[in-house]
Amino acid sequence: LSGGPLSGRHILVTSGPTHEPIDPVRYIANRSSGAQGSAIARALISLGAQVTFVTGPADAPRPPGAHVLEVQTAQEMHDAVISALPADAAIFAAAVADWRMAEASTRKLKKSKDGLPVLAFAENPDILRHVSGLGDNRPGLVVGFAAETDDVIDNATAKRDRKGCDWILANDVSPGSGIMGGTENAVVLIDATGADTWPRMTKDDVAQRLARRIADALGAVQN
Ligand code: C5P
Repeated sequence: LSGGPLSGRHILVTSGPTHEPIDPVRYIANRSSGAQGSAIARALISLGAQVTFVTGPADAPRPPGAHVLEVQTAQEMHDAVISALPADAAIFAAAVADWRMAEASTRKLKKSKDGLPVLAFAENPDILRHVSGLGDNRPGLVVGFAAETDDVIDNATAKRDRKGCDWILANDVSPGSGIMGGTENAVVLIDATGADTWPRMTKDDVAQRLARRIADALGAVQN
């Protein structure tokens, strides 16, 4: 939407899970659907932003009008994010795997009389923390997510400090909340001034509210 409050702004959105290969046919993954990241990208585009959408293997629709970068692993997601900078804002909605195999096997692991395979892990790059710590190339606004099951505000506030991002959108994913894989979300936005608890609403409504708040933070560009 040219003339929208985000026109002329480049915004990066990460979304979906990552897949970390164990061998050519097996991988480690998580249950992220990519729904919230996809909705955020759509909402930003509807306000006129130019969006780079870096997505792991997720079923959620690719947002029409976005520049889409498809990745599999956390390392690939990291590299795609860095290649897409500079950006005015970056929203890290992906559920990045914390670990990968120290060494993925190039051959399919076989059952063996010698016993079970032992999988050695290595730590993945923390993309949000890395981008938050960039100097000149740091996006003006960096937003992370925190999925918490208890002490949501305290844990998310600590996470904001640890990651060095500007905002954390915390959601309560306790069992029974129906949020993981569902259509609704219950969100608390943590910024430097404190915590803002949003009412439970659809992921689309969360996305639109976040997009408007980002537009306010960046200020409208006149063009
Ligand atoms: O540390 P934790 O995974 O709970 O942090 C969640 C936030 O950090 C999310 O915004 C997620 O996209 C981001 N993250 C990341 N790279 C990682 C792990 C998490 O960008 N390796």
